[in-house]
Amino acid sequence: MRGLDGKVAVIAGAGGIGGETAARLASEGALVFLGDLDLASAEDHAGRVRTKGGTCVPFAYDQTDDASVKALMDAAAAQFGRIDFLHANAADLRTIFDDSDALSVGLDVFDQTISVNLRGMLSCTRHALPHILRSKGAIVYTSSTAAHAGEPVRPCYAMSKAGVTALMRHVASRWGKDGIRANAIAPGMIITERLAVTMAQSAQDEMLAGCRSPRLGRSADIAAMVAMLFSDDGAWINGQVIAVDGGSTLRP
Ligand SMILES: NC(=O)c1ccc[n+]([C@@H]2O[C@H](COP(=O)([O-])OP(=O)(O)OC[C@H]3O[C@@H](n4cnc5c(N)ncnc54)[C@H](O)[C@@H]3O)[C@@H](O)[C@H]2O)c1
Repeated sequence: MRGLDGKVAVIAGAGGIGGETAARLASEGALVFLGDLDLASAEDHAGRVRTKGGTCVPFAYDQTDDASVKALMDAAAAQFGRIDFLHANAADLRTIFDDSDALSVGLDVFDQTISVNLRGMLSCTRHALPHILRSKGAIVYTSSTAAHAGEPVRPCYAMSKAGVTALMRHVASRWGKDGIRANAIAPGMIITERLAVTMAQSAQDEMLAGCRSPRLGRSADIAAMVAMLFSDDGAWINGQVIAVDGGSTLRP
């Protein structure tokens, strides 16, 4: 893919999608800085990248802590001298299980969800942006089809992801003329390595029934879109929410 070789990418949030995105970007020649609350996970994914000859540096940070997010961006810039791309990807997916409905959900669930998934995205944005403005780079946020699907459950998660798309549109509008781009990916059901083990087959079958493709998503499907959006081929894509969901949702 054109325009990724030698560029510096920070991925905030390793895990399934972030780990695979690190592998994809590194395979295109990018230098990757991979942050996560779970350092062991970031180290594991970075190690896999290095085994294949890529460059990937793991880093521990907490997306609920603005100073910690700043430390992530500062460390990446110190390591590689610049930041071209940010994949803002981390989310607290443990709170989803208590994210019942608007009448019964605990406000502590709302606060934790928003703190990581939305406030943390603002922290990532404001600490990466000065670097990305210098390099005229790009940001890709991970949202979710939940942001616009209107589900009867997990309202806090949906609100956090809808907020991410609003933040993305603001960044694209405020700094697009300065030569940077911001977009969001709305993944459908992605069977990450973790979900392949923890998600019941019956639940996977149910999700597949609502999908217009013959399989559910893989982390590599999202990684491919991140790579395209960062590449020169994505040079005129700005301010968009792009569903990568096998056709589960259809929007104009
Ligand atoms: N897997 C799916 O089906 C799916 C669907 C739609 C959207 N998404 C989104 O994709 C992104 C990645 O999800 P995933 O499926 O790879 O899950 P994942 O749990 O493997 O990855 C999320 C990562 O975020 C990290 N994290 C959580 N709290 C953090 C904090 N306070 N500071 C720093 N890191 C923190 C976790 O440690 C984890 O590694 C998330 O934004 C998620 O909402 C996933």
